[in-house]
Amino acid sequence: MYTQLEQRDMDSPPVNISTLRGMKDEGEPIACITAYDASFARLVDDAGIDVVLVGDSLGMVIQGHDTTVPVTVEDIVYHTRCVARGIRRAFLVADMPFMSYTMPEQALDNAVRLMQEGGAMMVKLEGAKGQVAVVEFLARHDIPVCAHLGLTPQSVHKIGGFRVQGREQSVADKMLADAKALQEAGADIVLLECVPNEVGQVITQSLDVPVIGIGAGPDVDGQILVLYDALGLTPGRTPRFVKNFMAEANSARAGLEAYVRAVKDHTYPAKEHCFS
Ligand code: KIV
Repeated sequence: MYTQLEQRDMDSPPVNISTLRGMKDEGEPIACITAYDASFARLVDDAGIDVVLVGDSLGMVIQGHDTTVPVTVEDIVYHTRCVARGIRRAFLVADMPFMSYTMPEQALDNAVRLMQEGGAMMVKLEGAKGQVAVVEFLARHDIPVCAHLGLTPQSVHKIGGFRVQGREQSVADKMLADAKALQEAGADIVLLECVPNEVGQVITQSLDVPVIGIGAGPDVDGQILVLYDALGLTPGRTPRFVKNFMAEANSARAGLEAYVRAVKDHTYPAKEHCFS
């Protein structure tokens, strides 16, 4: 009983929502990464990662699809269960896949599966103001939620490609309003993907909850990368915000430690990883 309390004897106690809020308040950057199996989960946890996401990016990097659309709840439950076995300290978030949260009751059923069967501590869902009712319903049932804004890859066929979001002032204003509405509805974290630095900065300053960025510039509360991108395992062209941390490391553990260090000392993302 109370495993988490027992683990307080560890050098660093397990990360929870309060830890993440405290890090935002103290200005300590939150280092996040994706993982999909127990071995890498153990490695990223040992390297000092604060938050591990079982992302639906597994559709691309594990399953070989072109998008995240084919990923199922079953897939995420399976990989979350694997990752949970490798983690001791990091906070574990699992993605709600495409069409698994179209209605509040459906979202609750699937979120419960990710938490009970997978061991997730929070679920992440994509979408703007249209998801307020879902987030509210989940929050009312004490399900911690991360709301993903900006580029939302599950909508790739609707938005016509993976591209930077929020360059036009009207779109940036709407994104800020959506972020506030989602926080108000009960979202505990906001994740921003592929937005100009200024949009990342304004939204981060406007919210009380931590804002994690991927291609959202340096002025957010934390950074996240897809594990395979950070380790230079992704073939071909990678997005501008990606940095290969294996380029100057001689082991995966050293590469991941370099990523954590770079996030914590604000050397990643650098100018060349950002959008204006
Ligand atoms: O699925 C995923 O890996 C994600 C990250 C890109 C944030 O959502």
